[in-house]
Amino acid sequence: MTQHTLDTAAWLHEIAPDDLRRTVDVLYRVHRLVVLVTDLPTLLLSIMEESKQVAQAEACALMLYDAITEDLYFEVALGESGDQSALKREVRLKLGQGIAGSAALTRQSVSVADARTDDRFFKQADETSGFETRSLLAVPLVDRDALIGVLEVVNKVGGGPFTNADLHVMEMFGSLVATSIANARLIEQNLRAERLAAIGQAVAGLSHYTKNIITGLSGSVDLIDQGLSQNNSEFILRSWPIFKRSTQKISDFVEDMLSFSKPRKPLIEPFDVRTVVKDVSDTVSGTVAKKEIGLHIDCARAAPTVRADQRGLYRVLLNLVSNAADAVPRTNGVIRLHAETADSGALIIEVADNGPGVPDEIARQIFDPFFSTKGSRGTGLGLAVTQKIVVEHGGQITVSRAPDGGALFRVVIPQEVDGQE
Ligand SMILES: Nc1ncnc2c1ncn2[C@@H]1O[C@H](COP(=O)(O)OP(=O)(O)OP(=O)(O)O)[C@@H](O)[C@H]1O
Ligand SMILES: [Mg+2]
Repeated sequence: MTQHTLDTAAWLHEIAPDDLRRTVDVLYRVHRLVVLVTDLPTLLLSIMEESKQVAQAEACALMLYDAITEDLYFEVALGESGDQSALKREVRLKLGQGIAGSAALTRQSVSVADARTDDRFFKQADETSGFETRSLLAVPLVDRDALIGVLEVVNKVGGGPFTNADLHVMEMFGSLVATSIANARLIEQNLRAERLAAIGQAVAGLSHYTKNIITGLSGSVDLIDQGLSQNNSEFILRSWPIFKRSTQKISDFVEDMLSFSKPRKPLIEPFDVRTVVKDVSDTVSGTVAKKEIGLHIDCARAAPTVRADQRGLYRVLLNLVSNAADAVPRTNGVIRLHAETADSGALIIEVADNGPGVPDEIARQIFDPFFSTKGSRGTGLGLAVTQKIVVEHGGQITVSRAPDGGALFRVVIPQEVDGQE
């Protein structure tokens, strides 16, 4: 048995020039792999392929340590023959069991010339894989004192044991592999924690939002009930607009969730953009009247027919106009909706308001799903859905400052010209 640690480079003086060249070459390649390959399974597979070559081994294997069950299992096994998948499925080694288990327990590399004559050799691995192990070199993988697994190279090509140079190169490989695995796990853990926190926040926000609408809805239903039972039309007239607004909000919300959650190819059809603009202005007429907003529409320079997904365009305009209606001041609120066909044939729509505009600090975030400054009055889905629909049309949406200081949203939807998009 040979035992080594990495704290001396004396071996470099003893190494044959050919071996040295081989070693430097492979370290250079592996270093490039670590920098360039970002997904762990591909990285591990490439490093294993390299280790097999550098140690001139017939086969190699990476065993990972499961800290819960406290045993080692095969993650990657590369070799010319043998049933690799059975090995991965069936063989697990306790710490101290087999040569890999010994390397893991003592955290020292183990090199044996003929595994079959070594008492520690775990024969079941060969029986399961159908592979015949002779020489074997097992290197423990340790990162910041934590055991990650064991790297093994098996059967030196041409017979004989693995050399001292093989052992040192494999130990270098081992430390790279251990760090790569530990880093990848850390990144994965952080991502998962961030994702869970984001999902939690989104669900809390959405629940709050829907709860508010449902409270409004049930309040108005109670009033309508009272009105009906007491034959009091005053109650019904008062609660009817709240009821209508709440059902509209619920249906908008569901529509936004649906548009947002699945990729969709737009259903392109010819229509008059004025029809969609009229639908939007009808939908917001209640809010516009209540807040006494001046809604100015100008579609004079829009071509009579545009080609787009009609429902999609309706959602885009409704979201932009609703946001503008939320943003305008309580008195003298003004929204301008302008649609025109550019010389290129593209449909350009602008929605401007005289609200406070979008502050520079949040301009980058407003298209993110669930980003909202409206607390429980907004889902933060509106602009995310709007952008998704525009992008699905191959178009663009941008925000800037309107001449009177408010927000100006500009949507460009390319149109087919002479049969081409
Ligand atoms: N016209 C606008 N003026 C000023 N800020 C705006 C305007 N439009 C959008 N924003 C900002 O962008 C944020 C995100 O808008 P988005 O439409 O995605 O969500 P929301 O309006 O908050 O919620 P919901 O879409 O459910 O109504 C808003 O909360 C607001 O801060
Ligand atoms: Mg919105």
